[in-house]
Amino acid sequence: MNPQPDSPLSVETIRAHLTTRVLGSTLYVHNEVDSTNRLLADLAREGAPDGTVVVAESQTAGRGRLGRQWVSPPGLNLYASILLPPWMQSSIAITWFPLLAAVAVGRAIRDLAELPATLKWPNDVIVLRDGIGRKLAGILVEAIESQQPGGRAMVIGIGINVNMPIEAFPVELRSTATSLLIETGRPFARSRLLATVLGELERLCDELREHGSGGIVEAYQNLCDTIGKRIRVELVGSEPAEGTAEVIASDGALRLRTREGKILEIRAGDVVHLR
Ligand code: BTN
Repeated sequence: MNPQPDSPLSVETIRAHLTTRVLGSTLYVHNEVDSTNRLLADLAREGAPDGTVVVAESQTAGRGRLGRQWVSPPGLNLYASILLPPWMQSSIAITWFPLLAAVAVGRAIRDLAELPATLKWPNDVIVLRDGIGRKLAGILVEAIESQQPGGRAMVIGIGINVNMPIEAFPVELRSTATSLLIETGRPFARSRLLATVLGELERLCDELREHGSGGIVEAYQNLCDTIGKRIRVELVGSEPAEGTAEVIASDGALRLRTREGKILEIRAGDVVHLR
């Protein structure tokens, strides 16, 4: 597969597609950073405006969930961080935001790439091929002390594998990770994809503030492939848990029924869907 690299990211090309009021109204595009989440958290502490977005062509120390590294080669993918101020967060538990961001990314991918992307709890965006769910995108949300009254600001970090050919993935990820290019055979404009994700995220935050959490919870449950499945959850610092994923609890935790009938609420871990 021969990827046609996308044109370089720029403030102008992203702005040309933006439809948002708040998210992305302040926008920084960098060639290389250590981590867009790290950089945006520093900007936020210095008083960056609400909705500031930092994007980079590459990251030298991209952060993943559970202390992992996020593979971030130049020119191929989307690495973006969004500053969500306390007033955009509404009354829903803060722990819902990683799930909300996943809905925004899943919808954007479905819309632009026309792929049947689904979510693996809590916020992996995956696509099924040959019965195996492969990861297209991941989200890392970090809470930071805000200078504003009303609570903590959040940095929502989004990594989407866009135009990455299989050879560009480390060997150990090739059977479990994928990209829009690999799944569709065509390259995508990252500027448009980012603008679409920001539009979806802003719409979800608006809905949350105006109508409460019901619609959001339903939207997540509809996209989430984990509910009803037999799963194994790799837990940090303890033995893996196995059982059936029953429902998402009111704080976004995953409720698991073990074979012995015990109910566990999982708040952090890596889910493996079992057949
Ligand atoms: C995961 O492990 O699934 C979450 C990956 C999140 C990666 C993104 S890339 C942009 C932002 N900056 C980072 O350092 N991490 C997030």
